[in-house]
This record gives sequence, C-alpha cells and structure tokens, in this order.
Amino acid sequence: MKKVLLCRVGELTEGEVRQVSAPGFEEDFAVYMMDGQYFASDDLCTHGMVSLSAGEIVDGQIFCPLHDGAFDIRTGKATVLPCRIALKIYAVSVEDGNVFGLVP
Ligand code: FES
Repeated sequence: MKKVLLCRVGELTEGEVRQVSAPGFEEDFAVYMMDGQYFASDDLCTHGMVSLSAGEIVDGQIFCPLHDGAFDIRTGKATVLPCRIALKIYAVSVEDGNVFGLVP
C-alpha cells in the first residue's frame, strides 16, 4: 500500500474536486471534499481520456465534463451513461493535517 499526499486539510472547500499528480504514478488522482469528508479516485474518466477533476459534483456524483456521464464518488459506480465501467476509488486517511490516498 502506498500513501499519496492529496492535499492539506483546509485546502479544498465543500463541493470542490482537484487533480493531483503524484511522483511515481503515471496517472493523476482526483481528490474531493464532499459532506465534510475527503474522497479520492482516479482522475481519468473510464469512458474517455478526460479529467474528471474538470467536472462537477452533484448529489454525490462526479459528472464528466465531456459527455456528462457520472460516477458515485463514494463507490466509484458508474451512475449515468455513457459511463459503464466503474471508477477506481481509494481509501483516504487524514494525518497531521495532510490528506492521503491509500493506493494498493
Ligand atoms: Fe467521460 Fe465520455 S469521456 S463521459
């Protein structure tokens, strides 16, 4: 398990999503602040090569900016077509003011 620094506590506001590049990882991550909690996923939409962090959070889902498909931020489940393949979600831990994604 690798710990990836996603952001510092307080850097994201409620309903915000941000792209994170981490050393040693080819793909970017997305970190979300929703309902006062942090969540993490792959940043790339599973429908195309588009950054989900450029999308919008609505009702617990991240909507892709290209075709308006969506995923449940908590589970990664594809919720709105044309997305069909689940998004990879990562556990998050908050330690000493830092928000980490736990990547297997
Ligand atoms: Fe995301 Fe098509 S690229 S819905």
